[in-house]
Amino acid sequence: MDIKLNGVTKEYHHEDGKVRVLDNLSLEVPSGHFVSVIGPSGCGKTTLLKLIAGFDHDAKPSKDIFMIFQDSNQLFPWRTLGSNLSYAIMKTNKGIGKEKAAEKAKTALEDVGLLDFYDYYPHQLSGGMKQRGALARALAVESKVLLMDEPFSSLDRDNKEIAYALLLKIWREKKLTIIFVTHDLEEAKKLSGQILYFEDLNGKIPV
Ligand SMILES: Nc1ncnc2c1ncn2[C@@H]1O[C@H](COP(=O)(O)OP(=O)(O)OP(=O)(O)O)[C@@H](O)[C@H]1O
Ligand SMILES: [Mg+2]
Repeated sequence: MDIKLNGVTKEYHHEDGKVRVLDNLSLEVPSGHFVSVIGPSGCGKTTLLKLIAGFDHDAKPSKDIFMIFQDSNQLFPWRTLGSNLSYAIMKTNKGIGKEKAAEKAKTALEDVGLLDFYDYYPHQLSGGMKQRGALARALAVESKVLLMDEPFSSLDRDNKEIAYALLLKIWREKKLTIIFVTHDLEEAKKLSGQILYFEDLNGKIPV
């Protein structure tokens, strides 16, 4: 699935006026590509991904496009890891039975090396495991596009390496389209041959 933005603008309204974060921004990511977008804190990376994900008023969210957030607490804390996944599967596949959903959840958890943690609650998992769990949820609902918002920034070096290798393997196997935003050039280089600088995409560098 191609992602195409053509001259989009996004403003936030504050008490003391408005801030234009995305200014005539254009971006094209062909299906199956893995693109990193790099930019400093506050430049508008999360804003950009949220807009693509359809969290904006005039866009529509879809299960084909899944966002993985900066925050490592994006799983429902009152559900086990397995139940987080099967809930998402049942919500996006009307009529699928509980057993079939659990089976799909297990396959996705196996893909990210977390099958043994099916019955664990998010608070019983490490930060790296929670992020891999969020990735598994995207796989479980068969999303085609992953929008990744600095998902590994809180992990230590070893866990980052594990997450990078896993993500690249999954990207190749599932033929996903990935937009990965980060402020870390090393990370961008490790993951993707295609690095875009936010300031080059945007009409001006936001202050
Ligand atoms: N809901 C909002 N309301 C008002 N202003 C916002 C809102 N969300 C973001 N902003 C502002 O928009 C700018 C860009 O924010 P954004 O979160 O997209 O940056 P970012 O590049 O993801 O930063 P970081 O690397 O720190 O995550 C910031 O100046 C921020 O204060
Ligand atoms: Mg951000």
